[in-house]
Amino acid sequence: MRVLAFLDGTLANPEDPHIRVDDLSVQRGDGIFETVLAVGGQPRELRPHLDRLARSASMLDLPEPDDAAFERTVRLVLDNWTGGDECAIKLVYSRGVDGDPETKPTAFVLAIPIGEKIKQARAEGVSVVTLERGIDPGLAERAPWLLLGAKSLSYAVNMAAGREAARRGADDVVFLATDGSVLEGPTSNVIIARGRTLYTPPATIGILPGTTQAAVFRGAERAGWTTKIEPLTAEDLRDNDGLFLASSVRKLTRVHTLDGERLPDSSAVHAELAKAYEDVYA
Ligand SMILES: Cc1ncc(COP(=O)(O)O)c(C=O)c1O
Repeated sequence: MRVLAFLDGTLANPEDPHIRVDDLSVQRGDGIFETVLAVGGQPRELRPHLDRLARSASMLDLPEPDDAAFERTVRLVLDNWTGGDECAIKLVYSRGVDGDPETKPTAFVLAIPIGEKIKQARAEGVSVVTLERGIDPGLAERAPWLLLGAKSLSYAVNMAAGREAARRGADDVVFLATDGSVLEGPTSNVIIARGRTLYTPPATIGILPGTTQAAVFRGAERAGWTTKIEPLTAEDLRDNDGLFLASSVRKLTRVHTLDGERLPDSSAVHAELAKAYEDVYA
């Protein structure tokens, strides 16, 4: 099941065509998006997602998204969702129609089911390969036009990295910068646990500031953990008590294998952190 609505409050059949072929999202991937997890009819971290949508819009020089309209449309979509306890909600916002000076952003909200692969990854963990991203940690600040850390619709590279992981027999990817520092996954943030401290790299190195990473850190702090946002090296991916990928739909997923090498079992740490994360919404 899928539920689609536009920001003017109209529901539409997701199986019908709605986007013009000359929309800039279709032509150039020129737009932004968010994916929000909803559980029991409640969107998680909607405010941080809308804040990040506004941040991405500003990075792409798009008009400021209408927060209230997005919020209402998310509610409308959720009120019409009958596909079970959980869904993923996509907020899409493109620059509009190519060559039309009067164009307004194309914006819609679409709820979709959680895929089986994601459910399996949540339950069993994932194998990951490290891949080069070809950027250095200072590039995002030197070259804002590269849109590093914007959640743009240009995700072809991220998708290609996923296919490369599959070719190498792995489920997912951690991108490394040219100096070997840890960036993020193609659709996730990296978190490591060492003792009772959690670490994640700073968004300033050109990665997306994760809403799930922030929620996990909030939950962990409430449960007595210390959290640190600081650069991580490729060695840190091995030298820890748990390596995790975090994102809205996958939640906190345990990495059990790194570059073909089985990591020490971190199930107990994962269970504790997964609970701390769920407790944020209890
Ligand atoms: C590149 C990238 N980094 C990190 C994340 C995690 O963000 P969030 O936890 O807000 O879903 C995503 C989410 O899809 C992503 O695409």
